[in-house]
Amino acid sequence: MNNLRPVGIIGTGKYVPEKILTNADLEKMVETNDEWIVSRTGIRERHIAAPDQATSDLCYEAAVKALASAGMTADQLDLIIIATVTPDTFFPSTACILQDKLGAKQAAAFDLSAACSGFVYGLATARNFISTGMYNNALVIGADCLSRITDYTDRNTCVLFGDGAGAVILGEVPEGRGFQSFDLGAEGAGGNLLKLEAGGSRMPSSTQTVEDKKHYIYMNGREVFKFAVRVMNTATEDVLKKAGKTKEDIDLFVPHQANIRIIQSAMERLNLSPDKCVVNVDKYANTSAASIPLALVEAAEQGRMKEGDCVLMVGFGGGLTWGASVLIW
Ligand code: UT7
Repeated sequence: MNNLRPVGIIGTGKYVPEKILTNADLEKMVETNDEWIVSRTGIRERHIAAPDQATSDLCYEAAVKALASAGMTADQLDLIIIATVTPDTFFPSTACILQDKLGAKQAAAFDLSAACSGFVYGLATARNFISTGMYNNALVIGADCLSRITDYTDRNTCVLFGDGAGAVILGEVPEGRGFQSFDLGAEGAGGNLLKLEAGGSRMPSSTQTVEDKKHYIYMNGREVFKFAVRVMNTATEDVLKKAGKTKEDIDLFVPHQANIRIIQSAMERLNLSPDKCVVNVDKYANTSAASIPLALVEAAEQGRMKEGDCVLMVGFGGGLTWGASVLIW
């Protein structure tokens, strides 16, 4: 895409709900314990949305901060993309609900569904709109309220998830900076490994689907784990190659925060020291589409990136899907 305008991140913001659910709290809810959760996942606590908070409310808080950090007002936005699997409603889209809340009257708005890979899919989509000149800027948010679709009587899943939103503003950046490459992919054949079955056109909501707990996340953890380790490696290799970079060039690695063991396996493969990897799965657990932007924005807030640094984001999730990007900060 050398003949197109360079696009990068010009503003960042994040939000997690106030309420914290600790491993000790979960010990009182299901047959589990802190030692199992920490040693198998690295998770210590997660944030849970208040009863009156929906995904668009988390997005709003993150978006206001991202706009302020970009020095922009909402009416200057050209495009809003929200990556989520827990929209406020099927329709209107959460992006349209946010457009109204922000007063972003000029912005086109839509949601994007690629589960935990959704934020990277959203970045690629927005980058292409801007680099081709159709729009000058975009607000891209990864946000999920997984607590709304989690069965808190199922210890296999309820210890793993949390709620949050991470937002970035994309715009034109100087030559040599911004997004260098993307690697997006899907393996639809593995869709049954991680899903929410009911409520769509295949299995509309009914008293039976509620009784059968089909409105909660189902996951085959072991199989998703194997997929995750595999594609974290292949997507990282592919996206580095497309950018003309090697693993030695990585200044900051920003992986999807699902399980510390998956992150550690990728770090070992890349021979990365801990100071080059963002880990916050201990505080937020797996927040699906919000996971990578929460990690990226937190790293930015902590001053972990400097101008010109090579940042590699990589994630995987339901679909099955994966997404990776190399970004020069
Ligand atoms: O964001 C997208 C996707 N999701 C993921 O990335 C998740 C990927 N998978 C994983 O992270 C891991 O597979 C899990 C953390 C979900 C599970 O870890 P595991 O090492 O694969 O454990 P397991 O599923 O093989 O279960 C081991 C044992 C089982 O007992 P038995 O059958 O060996 O007697 C489980 O019943 O651990 C038991 N177990 C628990 N014990 C205490 C499962 N959940 C719990 C729990 N507390 N919360």
